[in-house]
Parts: sequence; structure tokens; C-alpha cells
Amino acid sequence: MQDTLRDLLARHTPGHALEQPFYTDPDLFRADMETIFYRDWLYAIPACELEKSGSYVTHRVGAYGVILVRGADGEIRAFHNTCRHRGSVLCKSAKGNSPKLVCPYHQWTYELDGRLLWARDMGDDFDASAHGLKPVACRVLAGLVYICLSDNPPDFDTFAALAGPYLAPHDLTDAKVAYSSSIIENGNWKLVWENNRECYHCGGNHPALCRTYPDDPDVSGVGDGPPPAHIAAHFKKLEDAGIPSTFHLADSGQYRVARMPLKPGVKSYTMDGGAAVTKKLGRVPFDDAGTLLKFHYPTTWNHFLPDHSITFRVTPVSPTETEVRTTWLVHKDAVEGRDYDLKRLTEVWIATNDEDRQVVEDNQQGINSPAYQPGPYSERQESGVIQFVDWYRTTMASRLDPVSLAAE
Ligand code: FES
Ligand SMILES: [Fe+2]
Repeated sequence: MQDTLRDLLARHTPGHALEQPFYTDPDLFRADMETIFYRDWLYAIPACELEKSGSYVTHRVGAYGVILVRGADGEIRAFHNTCRHRGSVLCKSAKGNSPKLVCPYHQWTYELDGRLLWARDMGDDFDASAHGLKPVACRVLAGLVYICLSDNPPDFDTFAALAGPYLAPHDLTDAKVAYSSSIIENGNWKLVWENNRECYHCGGNHPALCRTYPDDPDVSGVGDGPPPAHIAAHFKKLEDAGIPSTFHLADSGQYRVARMPLKPGVKSYTMDGGAAVTKKLGRVPFDDAGTLLKFHYPTTWNHFLPDHSITFRVTPVSPTETEVRTTWLVHKDAVEGRDYDLKRLTEVWIATNDEDRQVVEDNQQGINSPAYQPGPYSERQESGVIQFVDWYRTTMASRLDPVSLAAE
């Protein structure tokens, strides 16, 4: 890379897309991982995915492998997926259930809380208590599990205090996973986010979603000033019923909550706008309460509806590959075929995700050209993209000192 990251950040033209290296350069990708993904709180899974004691899932974030496991005491914990003997990966499956965590190499055996329980022939002076699994910071917020790879995690409580009351009426601790999908988008993780943060592209690309989701920049964006009357009335109706709904964007720009209206008469993300699940997940008292939109950079956006909830997790894989995992949550007692039809529940967002994958991949392809030149965002339609890019640039610039790129 000819220019340093500092140079590139400093010479950014406000209101414009980023320069090519931000979307393509391996050194810059490494800087993104070290500066943001290895330091911030990351959404991992819905807590209900770990159904019982011994349930575990594994998750890879860049160089780090992580195990998330529910203990015998019901607590969810996270550990680095590397054995304290000679470092083998401990859990090789994407998910499973095991009463203990047993290393496949020499069978060192760990309790679900990370303590080393058994190690063969290590001698009398071996201290098992000094060889427990290395913990990863882990917080459960209203049924959503977040992790942080840093030994000094940033504040989580301010976000939890804001988002907790918005999430509470959705009773995510009473949920089960109805379906999950994992797709790879051949685009930089920032392109995945930029695409998510606007609906300028919706009319031309999302025929199924546009049946229910309004093509309205006031719903998708983060514009300044008071909301327009129809959104203010929506907020008031819900707030008066005790359902937190008003728009809040963190001072840092890292997260936002707002319960936004869908198209008139729409109850859920289905092809006809009707509910997808008859046994509702949560206690939202209006079928037309719309969708609680919550994003938390750099890993998650979500839709929480009166009948079900959908979480999205963004994980960079390489400079030009990003995994997007989508999980549909329904009430734990809802029965497929009786209370919901899986195709009806999932078809809108399966189609939308694939359409988003296509536009992100097209965006990446065009940016790969030497002729690419960052163009201007629409202030009306792309306020959310401008906000994301500002958050990214500000965050990178403020943390840059410890990072030295190979090119510097
Ligand atoms: S590396 Fe795990 S038991 Fe040896
Ligand atoms: Fe989209």
C-alpha cells in the first residue's frame, strides 16, 4: 500500500464513499480486524441457541476461535478455542453438546466453566488450576450474547441500559431458533454494512421486502431533526402503551435503536404482510407495531417484530469475503406446521439476503477496477451510510496509534 492508513483516513472527502484500499487491501483488512473486531463487543448468538447444559457453538473471528457454552449452572460463557496443553483446537464442530470439553489431541478434559478437570500423567507438581481455558469476555443482554476478544473490553453497560428496555417486550429468553442461514458475500465487510444502512437500493432490488418494508428514508436513515408526523405518531402510540420505541443513536455512533412502522396494515415480514407466527414471541400489544431496528457496529443489525425476531451477524472472512448469519427466532412453544410455516416465516429475508449479496458483490467488483473513484452519497437517501462511514473513520483514527501498518 502506497499510502498509510492515516493518510487515507485524513484525506477522505466528506459525504463520499471510501477509497479503494479500504475495500481491497490486505494490510487495511488486518488493521480493521485489530483495531475494531479484536477490541469491540461483537454480537455472537441468541442465548436460546445454547438450549441446555453442555450445548456449545464455535465461532471464528479473524485469527480467533471462540467456544460459547452453557454451563451446568445455566450460565453462558465464552472461551478461546485452544487447549492449554499444546494448543490444539478443542471443539471442532460448529455446534454440539458435551458434558465436558475434551481435547481431541491428548484428552485433557475441561469443565463447562473452563476449569481443567483431568490431564493424564502430568506429574505431582502439575497445577491444574493454572491451566484452565482462557476466557473471552461475554455478556448476555435480554437473550442476545455478545463477546469481546480484548482483555480490556470497552463499556457495555451504556449500550445495555439503552437497548435492554427496547428488547425486553420481545421476551427473547423464551425463544427458540426456528431457522438459521449462513451466506458468504464476496465483498468487504464495510460494503455489507453500507448496503444495510440505506434503502436507496430497495426499490430496484428487493421485490419481496418492499411488499412490507416502507421505501422511506425517514425509516431507514439517521437524519437530524424531529421525526416526520407519521413516525412521531407511531412512537407515541407505542410509548404510551409502555413499549420503548423512540429513535436513539449513541453519541459514539456505534449503535441505534428505533421501533419503526412498516407499510400500513402490515404485521410482519411475509409475502402478504400478515403475521408469520400465530403463537407470538413477546408482549408487544399491537400487531402493527412495526419493527424494532437495532444495529450495533461492527457485527449486528436486527428486526424484532410483534410475532417473531430476526438477528443478523456480520463476520469478516477476508478483505473481499464476509459471512452474514441470519437467525429466525420464534416462541419456544411454537410448533412448526401448526403455529408457523417455515417457508412463510423465512422466504422474505432469504430472498432479501440473496439480493443484498448480489448487489454487494457487484459493488465490490466495480470497486476493484483501477478506474473506481469514490462518489457522493445522497444525503436524503444515504444518511445511514454517511453515519456508518463517519463512525468507521472516527473509530479507526482515534485508535490508530498502537497500530503500525507494514507500509508505514
Ligand atoms: S493439545 Fe490438548 S490435550 Fe494436548
Ligand atoms: Fe438490501
